[in-house]
Amino acid sequence: MDHSTKARITVDKSFVKSKIDDRLYGSFIEHLGRAVYHGIYEPTNQAADADGFRQDVISLVRDLNIPIIRYPGGNFVSNFFWEDSVGPERKARLDLAWRTRESNEFGLQEFSRWTKKVNAEIMMAVNLGTRGLSDALNLLEYCNLDEGTYYSELRKSHGQTEPYNIKTWCLGNEMDGAWQVGHRKAAEYGHLAAETGKAMKLMDDHIELAACGSSFEKMPTFPEWEATVLDEAYDYVDYISMHQYYGNLENDTADYFALTQDMENFIHTVIATCDYIKAKKRSQKWMNISFDEWNVWFHSSEADDDTMKNHPWQTAPHLLEDIYTFEDAIMVGLMLITLLKHADRIKVACLAQLVNVIAPIMTENDGGIWKQTIYYPFLHASLYGRGVVLETPVMTGKHDTIKHADVTDIEAVTVYHEEKEEVTIFAVNRNTDSDITLEADLRSFAGYQVADYIAMEQDDMKAVNTISAEHVTPIHKKEYEFEEGVFRANLKKCSWNVIRFQKNR
Ligand code: AHR
Repeated sequence: MDHSTKARITVDKSFVKSKIDDRLYGSFIEHLGRAVYHGIYEPTNQAADADGFRQDVISLVRDLNIPIIRYPGGNFVSNFFWEDSVGPERKARLDLAWRTRESNEFGLQEFSRWTKKVNAEIMMAVNLGTRGLSDALNLLEYCNLDEGTYYSELRKSHGQTEPYNIKTWCLGNEMDGAWQVGHRKAAEYGHLAAETGKAMKLMDDHIELAACGSSFEKMPTFPEWEATVLDEAYDYVDYISMHQYYGNLENDTADYFALTQDMENFIHTVIATCDYIKAKKRSQKWMNISFDEWNVWFHSSEADDDTMKNHPWQTAPHLLEDIYTFEDAIMVGLMLITLLKHADRIKVACLAQLVNVIAPIMTENDGGIWKQTIYYPFLHASLYGRGVVLETPVMTGKHDTIKHADVTDIEAVTVYHEEKEEVTIFAVNRNTDSDITLEADLRSFAGYQVADYIAMEQDDMKAVNTISAEHVTPIHKKEYEFEEGVFRANLKKCSWNVIRFQKNR
């Protein structure tokens, strides 16, 4: 352990690590709980537009500037019959994943219309649980073929003359998980993903495909699952997926904040496994990562188990409605920094999820809307984390926690947007005992000045926002020095910091 109340980072414009794919700021809408019904779609709400979409939700989602949204699941997709959710006649079904009733009143057509209003693309998942290759092809034909075939004409008969042209597809969801309807063994799934991917790309060679990786790092089959799946499917897919949720399960804030060490290890192992299969196959292709579910998720689990077990088959019940604390916002900030640090291999990432279900945005049924604590770090990263990521060496003290050793006090990464002439440092002080003075050397950015210093800092780790009071919001700080290209400020213990620089114009 190295106790120090000072940290130093070097920000140099020649240390470009990678371009950041905008899709790093993706999100996720699943037919789960109140995400769709009462979330994005509620025709009876006074804020609803002519399509029944809540305009208050559209407005907050637009502010987040989300480029891609994964749909329709999640576990939901593994028992989903997409045909029931398009056209004039919708069929109600039981959703076995969340043990609810799905009316299919809202489906692909409505979701596509909604994504246009929020300026996002769709990342579409196919059902490889209860269905398979031929249904995946039918859905692709429905979505992406212009005309002249059964399913493209069916789409046109539903009033959608232009194809949806969905580019990014998930080959099932969490197929390694015993909870998944239609769960497979690794070799079975790898073969199915390879054959489905091969056929889908024969139909449309513009698409990109993500094969399922492990559902979380502690899965007993990780990382053998990735190796086996990629051994089968390497040539046909573009991404291996990662999913990870964290929670402060032991109510130990310092150890909670250290969990991104595990996330780092998880990412390193997935990359190593991809590269092992690349070498084994003598392939020229680099496999990238679609981190298509990540967030904090633990507050709601007990209530959810009760609802699913004892009160099943409801329509749009309250499920996975975690109310996030201040410390959860810091954890989301740490996860964002970790994703950015690996932007050379992580090309897609989806904050799971977007509205009402483990979400930054919450609504009341036929009522108002509010922003959770985690809304803000995601907003800041999405707005200011575009461009290229710079290698950002951080000299910082370290501390031990109950389950983690040598945990860095300061986690930081820098993003440079050359055309906008903007540089942004994202930094978390995850030391729960000490403020730390951060010194950032930006001398390679001549003529730049501090444009804004945004922070989230709070004494009460458990502070939350509600519909009636926003207790956790960012502040704009003036307490800093910037002299001869060197920035200095006191980063409060347990704080999220966004320091923005712009070239003088
Ligand atoms: O996002 C909630 C659930 O978490 C998803 O349906 C599933 O893929 C994961 O286990």
